[in-house]
Amino acid sequence: LKVMISGAPASGKGTQCQMIVEKYGLVHISTGDLLRAEVSQGTEIGKKAKEYMDNGMLVPDDIITDMVISRLSQRDVKEKGWLLDGYPRSPSQAQSLERIKIRPDIYIVLDVPDEILIDRCVGRRLDPVTGKIYHLKYSPPETEEVSARLIARSDDTQERVKLRLETYKRNAVATLPTYLDLLRKVDGNRPKEFVFGEIDSLLQQVY
Ligand code: AP5
Ligand code: ZN
Repeated sequence: LKVMISGAPASGKGTQCQMIVEKYGLVHISTGDLLRAEVSQGTEIGKKAKEYMDNGMLVPDDIITDMVISRLSQRDVKEKGWLLDGYPRSPSQAQSLERIKIRPDIYIVLDVPDEILIDRCVGRRLDPVTGKIYHLKYSPPETEEVSARLIARSDDTQERVKLRLETYKRNAVATLPTYLDLLRKVDGNRPKEFVFGEIDSLLQQVY
């Protein structure tokens, strides 16, 4: 199974991917997660990428595309199938995959109204140990121990979320035509279990 998932900042891509992986065992490839790992390890790629990320801009294609393509060619991905989260995000990125005949079975877009997104970002926390995504209000941590180690993302301030949203709007619409025949819009403004229920039934149709 090959799945692409798209949607605005904080539309719930990462959250849904964690639920999809649990049921379908796909390899989750999140370009945001890959880039944040480079930043935290202080690599050359990370140093370059951080400036773009903190300004809510797309990092240049030459950094990101090689990263995705080399991950997609690894053995576990070929065996288990893939779940691409946050890539492609622009027509040129979509073309890079088209050129090497990489196409998903389904292209899911999570639809969430703008006014909800800021609140979701500002309250988001990540568990550095498990990688799990929380929200102080909507998905609070289960234990005190987890609560004490949660961290916020540096691009989750109100101003930075607005910039990310503008970048998303500029690029997303132009990326859609490549996948029009595979496109499935899902209402992401519901409790995450309901959103997953719909995604699950869509995946069953192509599984
Ligand atoms: P990336 O990490 O992909 O950021 P993003 O697209 O802004 O998306 P987010 O990760 O913020 O949100 P999400 O949709 O995963 O939501 P989540 O599930 O966490 O990219 C970061 C940066 O990297 C980019 O800005 C760019 O600079 C760079 N980059 C990445 N890919 C690139 C590419 N292809 N090309 C160039 N540059 C690239 O949920 C958010 C919050 O909401 C959480 O707190 C969660 O608990 C809560 N939540 C989730 N679902 C629900 C629900 N149903 N109800 C209530 N709360 C919910
Ligand atoms: Zn994410």
